[in-house]
Amino acid sequence: MSLSLTQDDNTALFRKAWTLYDAISEKNYMFHREIYSHVTRMLQKRHELGAYHLLDLGCGNARFLAPCLQSAPPASYDGVDLSASALEEARSYLNGLSNTGLHHKDMLLAVEDTDSAFDIIFSGFAVHHLDAASKQRLFSACAEHLAPEGQFILVDVVREEGQTREQYLEAYLNCMRTQWTEVHPEHLAEACAHVESYDFPETLAELGQMAKRAGLSEPQVIDSYQQHHILRFTV
Ligand SMILES: C[S@@+](CC[C@H](N)C(=O)[O-])C[C@H]1O[C@@H](n2cnc3c(N)ncnc32)[C@H](O)[C@@H]1O
Repeated sequence: MSLSLTQDDNTALFRKAWTLYDAISEKNYMFHREIYSHVTRMLQKRHELGAYHLLDLGCGNARFLAPCLQSAPPASYDGVDLSASALEEARSYLNGLSNTGLHHKDMLLAVEDTDSAFDIIFSGFAVHHLDAASKQRLFSACAEHLAPEGQFILVDVVREEGQTREQYLEAYLNCMRTQWTEVHPEHLAEACAHVESYDFPETLAELGQMAKRAGLSEPQVIDSYQQHHILRFTV
């Protein structure tokens, strides 16, 4: 789920949505704590093998990934986001990490246009905003720009097999309305509206098909917490 605007970078609106996303993720309703503990361990394992280059697609303010990098600092970090204000915040969260690049760009174009290869391409709760054709393009571009032994780590919401988008939304919105009890009702309504407009998750099988067509491995499910998954695809 994302509460940030994807195409509209109106700073005031973005800040409002971002503040809301930050508040919700702080309450751990989307299991950020558990998920990013896994990500830390995955990055530590890669770091033990030697220097690695990391690309973060839809990095937002990097608030959750930045702490993971402390024990597994990459040789370079490149974050991409459509929101200039999120990138501004990311600069301070990533303070102290060397060789960082923050790019105000669409993530699909960023990975398609780069001349670099990455050992890890990471994306947290951003890919579900893309339509199916763009997700396929993203998988293909990731496959093309992963170094040998590279990994695409995808943290995102996933639909159940056979579940339509409408059924997924009904279930997710119901969960938000009944379990996200500490969110102010007005903010909850705003968050629900964002999910209804911007969330287009795929099933695991659909993601697997996209990965296969791109020449990547089957998805490895590292763990899942309700709809929120940590997946790994390798070259
Ligand atoms: C829910 S936030 C996730 C932020 C962070 N990755 C995390 O895991 O907490 C989704 C982010 O993806 C960005 N985003 C959405 N669509 C994008 C696109 N096509 N290109 C670049 N960034 C995008 C949004 O601006 C937002 O910052």
